[in-house]
Amino acid sequence: MESAAPRPRPPAVDPRLYRDAVGRFPTGVTVVTTRLDGRDHGMTVSSFTSVSLDPVLVLVSIEHAARLHDVILAAGRWAVSVLPAHQEEVSRLFARRGRPEAEVFAAVAHIRGPLTGAALIDGALATIECRTAAAYPGGDHTILLGEVLGLGVGDPGASPLVYHRGEYRGSDR
Ligand SMILES: Cc1cc2nc3c(=O)[nH]c(=O)nc-3n(C[C@H](O)[C@H](O)[C@H](O)COP(=O)(O)O)c2cc1C
Repeated sequence: MESAAPRPRPPAVDPRLYRDAVGRFPTGVTVVTTRLDGRDHGMTVSSFTSVSLDPVLVLVSIEHAARLHDVILAAGRWAVSVLPAHQEEVSRLFARRGRPEAEVFAAVAHIRGPLTGAALIDGALATIECRTAAAYPGGDHTILLGEVLGLGVGDPGASPLVYHRGEYRGSDR
């Protein structure tokens, strides 16, 4: 007979070690944008992943504490701009906590996505316009599944901006 004793819990994971371990996995860098009530919002996001081809789905994971979190859920439509190596500064601008968004959008060239109204960053390697298909709880983040509405691709010869162990790689600035 199985014992009724509580199962031992796995040892607590050290958050610093966790960051160090997952930081060994290199990612690309994107800016996720949305537009709500006539205002642009955007944030640097590396959790972008391609999910499915049929239907065409992608995901991003957004921290509850980020200002973009509630705005993107309310808007329901958003865009992903994949940054090239020379746009490290764009990534830094959109990652600053409490940044004045109007100033950031005034400083970063963009066009408006025809399908979402969200800003698409000039010079992006790719742009992906989405509508929220589902939102799943993911601890202190929400995982947004996006149905892809439209795509754009940039210069095929350009290198991507890469984030690895807390540093930008491939940056040629
Ligand atoms: C390279 C990089 C990747 C990031 N990726 C994510 C991400 O995938 N999800 C997320 O919620 N925050 C991510 N962040 C952090 C947010 O960009 C940052 O917390 C946010 O801009 C803070 O804005 P706030 O003032 O609205 O809180 C990333 C930051 C950097 C520098």
